[in-house]
Amino acid sequence: MTGMLRPRRLATAALTVVIALALAACNNQDLPNTTFNPHSEFGGAIDDLWDKLLFWGTLVFVFVEAALIFVVVRYRHREGRPEPKHVHGNTTLEILWTVVPAFILAVIAIPTVKTIFQFQSSAPANAIQVNVTGHQWWWEFEYPQYGFRTANELYLPAGRTVSFHLKSQDVIHSFWIPQLGGKRDVITNRTNYLWFTPDSTLGADVWNGFCAEYCGASHANMKFRAFTLPEADFERWAAHQKLPAVFGPPAGAPGTPGAPAGTPPAPPAPGARGGAAAPQQTASAPNAAGAPGAPGVVPVAATQGGGFDFAIPRREYAIPQTPIPDGLTFTAGLTGDAERGRQLFSRSACVGCHTIGGTLAASPIGPNLTHVGSRTTIAAGLYPNDAEHLARWIKNAPAMKPGVIMPPFGQGLRDPRTNAPGRLTDAQIADIVAYLLALK
Ligand code: CUA
Repeated sequence: MTGMLRPRRLATAALTVVIALALAACNNQDLPNTTFNPHSEFGGAIDDLWDKLLFWGTLVFVFVEAALIFVVVRYRHREGRPEPKHVHGNTTLEILWTVVPAFILAVIAIPTVKTIFQFQSSAPANAIQVNVTGHQWWWEFEYPQYGFRTANELYLPAGRTVSFHLKSQDVIHSFWIPQLGGKRDVITNRTNYLWFTPDSTLGADVWNGFCAEYCGASHANMKFRAFTLPEADFERWAAHQKLPAVFGPPAGAPGTPGAPAGTPPAPPAPGARGGAAAPQQTASAPNAAGAPGAPGVVPVAATQGGGFDFAIPRREYAIPQTPIPDGLTFTAGLTGDAERGRQLFSRSACVGCHTIGGTLAASPIGPNLTHVGSRTTIAAGLYPNDAEHLARWIKNAPAMKPGVIMPPFGQGLRDPRTNAPGRLTDAQIADIVAYLLALK
């Protein structure tokens, strides 16, 4: 009697565990990097394929395991029992186990091949093109129809197809926004394509993006953020990105005191576009590192500092939690001066790698910094974009992110790759930080 009860109890317990696990897996609302909650037609198609595979795979698994268990139990050895009858050749069985798997494979293959063809075809003609370039270890996003480049923060209009043209500057990377679409390899000397349409029902929101192909020391630190916006807000953002670098709030941004509609803000460099206004304006020079940075409070919307009001909800998963490595000190209480920072930037090695639109800095090696002050993160999604982190980044980037090619600029430090010495004091770095954070 107990011999009968025990397997039954075990089976009940096992079933309970399986159901509990399955239910737990269904709750994906709190999993920001899940692919089971897709927000584009491409993500939806992949998810459908997954469901089909799971269904047929489960069916095959259950059937095979049941047959196995049945045979093991039914034909097990018992004292005094004759050996079971041996069978050689059974045409019906052989036809069955050829036809049934062939049918299942066809049921899986047809929608898979259809989906591949659907999304390998050209994107719809009205798609917004984004040229994605993978670098060790950051992402460059160019919007050729609008004529600007940005880095590590991708903006997409909800309900409009985006056509990504992907290539790499160095090694193989892979472009992936789990909740929207991907993955697609990013390769040198070859352009790969990917297109999808963020659901038109999406409001302003933020999504995590990753490099999904091992690409060296900071592969895990090669992240990005994708922001979806209503189309009108996207157009407003894009129009602002096209402008050369400006101090302070963007032109005509709503609710920005001191920026009456139609009045271009002062450009940072004499001779830059819109030059009638005072060329130098030290707007919102922030307190550089050492300022009591309220822990856990980080501007999430790109926009909060930039004067835009996209009302992007605060998402904990989009706020970098990377701790500052031990020993990276910075003088407390320094207040940077953005105008001094601008001058320092323009005559230091910064211009050898970075572009700031409307200034002499025009090198494509590092991320474009024209509107860096309006980004939420630095170092490809690794740290929040605030004075505390930016100052330490400029002072000693290699200590903040393994393998990064940006040298340490702090006085007394040496570039681990070239042994070149850093020359900037903390006070000078604070000035540059004030300048960069003012570039909204
Ligand atoms: Cu780029 Cu991994």
